[in-house]
Amino acid sequence: MKYGYFDNANREYVITRPDTPAPWTNYLGTEKFCTVISHNAGGYSFYDSPEYHRVTKFRPNASFDRPGHYVYLRDDESGDYWSISWQPVAKSLEEAKYEIRHGLSYSKFRCEYSGITATKTLFVPKGEDAEIWDIVLRNTGETPRTISAFSFVEFSFSHIASDNQNHQMSLYSAGTEYHQGVIEYDLYYNTDEFEGFYYLASTFDPDSYDGQRDRFLGPYRDESNPIAVVNGQCSDSVQTCYNHCGSLHKQFVIQPGEEVRFAFILGLGKGNGTRLRHKYQNPAEVDAAFAAIRHHWDKRCSRFQVTTPNEGLDTMINTWTLYQAETCVVWSRFASFIEVGGRTGLGYRDTAQDAMAVPHSNPEMTRKRIIDLLRGQVKAGYGLHLFDPDWFDPDKADVKPSKSPTVVPTPSDDDKIHGIEDTCSDDHLWLVPTICRYVMETGETSFFDEEIPYADGGNATVYQHMKAALDFTEQYVGATGIAKGLRADWNDCLNLGGGESSMVAFLHYWAITEFIELAKFLNRPEDVAHYQTMADKVRCACEQHLWDEEGGWYIRGITRNGEKVGTSQQAEGKVHLESNTWAVVSGTVSEERGRKAMDAVDEYLYSGFGLHLNAPAFTQPNDDIGFVTRVYPGVKENGAIFSHPNPWAWVAEAKLGRGNQAMKFYDALNPYNQNDDIETRISEPYSYVQFVMGRDHQDHGRANHPWLTGTSGWAYIAATNHILGVRLSFDGLVIDPCIPTEWPGFEVSREWRGCRYNISVKNPDNVSRGIKTITLNGQEINGAIPPQPAGSDNEVIVIMGE
Ligand code: IFM
Repeated sequence: MKYGYFDNANREYVITRPDTPAPWTNYLGTEKFCTVISHNAGGYSFYDSPEYHRVTKFRPNASFDRPGHYVYLRDDESGDYWSISWQPVAKSLEEAKYEIRHGLSYSKFRCEYSGITATKTLFVPKGEDAEIWDIVLRNTGETPRTISAFSFVEFSFSHIASDNQNHQMSLYSAGTEYHQGVIEYDLYYNTDEFEGFYYLASTFDPDSYDGQRDRFLGPYRDESNPIAVVNGQCSDSVQTCYNHCGSLHKQFVIQPGEEVRFAFILGLGKGNGTRLRHKYQNPAEVDAAFAAIRHHWDKRCSRFQVTTPNEGLDTMINTWTLYQAETCVVWSRFASFIEVGGRTGLGYRDTAQDAMAVPHSNPEMTRKRIIDLLRGQVKAGYGLHLFDPDWFDPDKADVKPSKSPTVVPTPSDDDKIHGIEDTCSDDHLWLVPTICRYVMETGETSFFDEEIPYADGGNATVYQHMKAALDFTEQYVGATGIAKGLRADWNDCLNLGGGESSMVAFLHYWAITEFIELAKFLNRPEDVAHYQTMADKVRCACEQHLWDEEGGWYIRGITRNGEKVGTSQQAEGKVHLESNTWAVVSGTVSEERGRKAMDAVDEYLYSGFGLHLNAPAFTQPNDDIGFVTRVYPGVKENGAIFSHPNPWAWVAEAKLGRGNQAMKFYDALNPYNQNDDIETRISEPYSYVQFVMGRDHQDHGRANHPWLTGTSGWAYIAATNHILGVRLSFDGLVIDPCIPTEWPGFEVSREWRGCRYNISVKNPDNVSRGIKTITLNGQEINGAIPPQPAGSDNEVIVIMGE
């Protein structure tokens, strides 16, 4: 079953049936003010942190996505009322027609009901800490209509998200006032703080208003039937204490064929409500602000655009996967309908991987995240698994709200900096390739010499930080020379402790070889030699200890008791995705073994919804292996189709030159391809999810936790850099595709350091991999394309063949 379609020309997903089996969400905001909103207008806003600067309330895990940012309409002659989004009033879909367009940083709700066509466009203008609700009502009938419009948003009790659930003082710590078209919400009496002051304003002069939620909704009612809307009038309520909302009401008489347009504005800061209601009374200002958002994303997306024979790939790469990857870099894992402000910290490994995907579209944020991570690294070389970047940011002495009924404790150094027992074996290693990619993109080689403090004191250059990461893993190896598993590796639930992790050994090899390329580029021969020796040692240990001859694949690790995990001898947890893909991705293993390992991945782990993380799923608890053995079979890390490592398999297949396999795996996970099977997928088809239920679960194919997953970054990297093969090295732009044999070719438009490269790849011999010639502006070239003069437009023709 299908609920919508992709409108590629507008970079929108269009929902034509609002009764989707779950809320389908979007992110509004390109700077500090953010709203997570569903296609039924449920959701919440925050400023910078959903944990510490919550603006509106949300009830997570309820059966409805409420409350939200709603506009109600009421026919003042008949008393009939509805909402512009299908929820919360939920008119019969037989009588009312809804269309929702989730675009990049905006959502547009359209409703046709009883001769009124209403649209509501939500977005956050650049340069303002506010959300605009741009409303247009059109009378499509033949008689004049008298229509009342009401806004509704429920303010957060306090800055602190958790105060909405569990702090009795919160009930008595805020109040609303009304001043000429603005409901002002003051957290903590008489505060002058910007973040302590929320408002909901309208561009019209209201006929009535409510700042008190319970006066607006009425007793024993909810958002579906507020008493104010039923009565056609708010009760002009404002007061200190209790629950607060922003409802502004106005009655309009609309002539046949006529339109009225107005806006609501939700935001922060004393005086801003009044300022912005005047500013946006001019519709041209609203249009300009919206155009700026469109421009923002067009510019970012245009840095890499592709045309291939695979429409699903084009749709995702040109728009949705980049958008999702950028969302992850900015909001990490802390704001969605699953994570609703429980933590604002950065996961070390997630952030390092997220940042790897977007240096071309968002170099500023990539750089910022790299610096956050370097400040979150300790002298010993490992990263702090979960940390708040503000702890180590000298410019952010006291950013947490001070006037809150909940006291936010400032963590002590001991609480901030964990020891080896809480260290994950992979975290720090992702840094090395991410930093290299940032510099390849920007050319900012001086970055390697920049001094950044360690979390536990002392300064080091970026280059030295990278070495510390590699050296830490060299030091923490087990008896076989394979890296220790520590608290966990990439797989949070594989807790091998003093046992060994094959994935980390491969990852280490990869990071070392990336570093060697850097040392060569910087002409530091001693480092080249030193790290080459380290790489050789790791490779030998891997080939000696990790290959399962009988199965023909790489094991996942070794427990502290010396038992191998992921062998042909085992009944469960036999084959694992991470070790076999990383064996190949890292370049550690021979091509022959790599092919066999990836054949095993296909045989044991493949399904039409993507690759399982391991198979068969564990059913017997074994604490030497870890928590994974206690997770339900087919769920999350225990035998689900865990999305994040799937792109590693696409990279591995591309490295092996098997383009058909790479595309088979790509297509299986691509949410676009499940657009017609929503009864199975449930989640939105424009976003990768954290995991899809595996074959051992009764909901096999159900997709869970959209948006904030490292899948997006890796899907983007795997498709663009490895399948399409357009990637950077320190020497320049490399073109080395690995595509399905049936593709006649493809086109890529890539912007790099201010130049455009229009790349046309032709595949006359139907190969997967191999280049016969590359010409740049008519001149044949060998190897990488060096940076061209700034501002230039370059034509690159690539002929593939044996
Ligand atoms: O790698 C982790 C990630 O850091 C958080 N989510 C789960 C992944 C796999 O365990």
